[in-house]
Amino acid sequence: MRASLENEIPLIHFKDVYFSYPGKKENLIFKCNFSIKKPGFWMVVGKNGSGKTTLLKLINGIIKPKSGFIDSRANIGMVFQNPDHQILMPNCRSELLINIDQYISQNEINKKIENVLDQVGMKGFEKRPVHTLSGGQKQRLSIACALISDRNFILLDEPTAFLDQTSQLKVLQTIKNLTSDIKNPLSALWITHRYEELTYADSVAELKNGFLSDWQEPSKFQYN
Ligand SMILES: Nc1ncnc2c1ncn2[C@@H]1O[C@H](COP(=O)(O)OP(=O)(O)O)[C@@H](O)[C@H]1O
Ligand SMILES: [Mg+2]
Repeated sequence: MRASLENEIPLIHFKDVYFSYPGKKENLIFKCNFSIKKPGFWMVVGKNGSGKTTLLKLINGIIKPKSGFIDSRANIGMVFQNPDHQILMPNCRSELLINIDQYISQNEINKKIENVLDQVGMKGFEKRPVHTLSGGQKQRLSIACALISDRNFILLDEPTAFLDQTSQLKVLQTIKNLTSDIKNPLSALWITHRYEELTYADSVAELKNGFLSDWQEPSKFQYN
């Protein structure tokens, strides 16, 4: 009973949201209504320039709507398009360490680091210098950073745009595994212009001409 009630509380809720950049008359985001009510793999697809990054900035509060209402109860972690724009430290362990914001023992820290690296398929990478990682490994390290800082919602802005196909599939599979974990599923909103990625999602919406469609199952998604 408790779990079902909790599932009804949206993690993210947009009500009649409009947005335009200063000096622009036309709305880039138009009457946007959607909710994310439960964990899972959510994807928004749209062509270049359709407003996907703008939508993410509205979700994480970097920009404010011109009108409408946004409610976010999510503790959001970000993964950016360019893996080189995110990682600050010289190796995997130090990058993970700066994302731990609790006072915990050395023993617990070591356990957490081992655990999150395992969750993103990078067991044993602790001492690896960041400059020796592939783009996909960097993206998975960024996901591990969100996990180690106890985020319950990861926003990914075209995380595979700069990756080759092998790395692309590994990052997709990592998020798929985390969002379909039976005990403690993660919530992820993945933004993409690559329509072939949609089959990994639980729910898909398309951003087109400023308008976000309803959520649909990927198999029912109409390619317009
Ligand atoms: N800070 C800004 N000021 C003015 N226009 C912007 C700004 N950021 C993006 N835009 C414009 O808004 C449109 C959508 O951009 P964006 O949200 O980045 O799209 P996408 O991520 O789908 O490629 C583009 O036409 C872009 O030029
Ligand atoms: Mg973008």
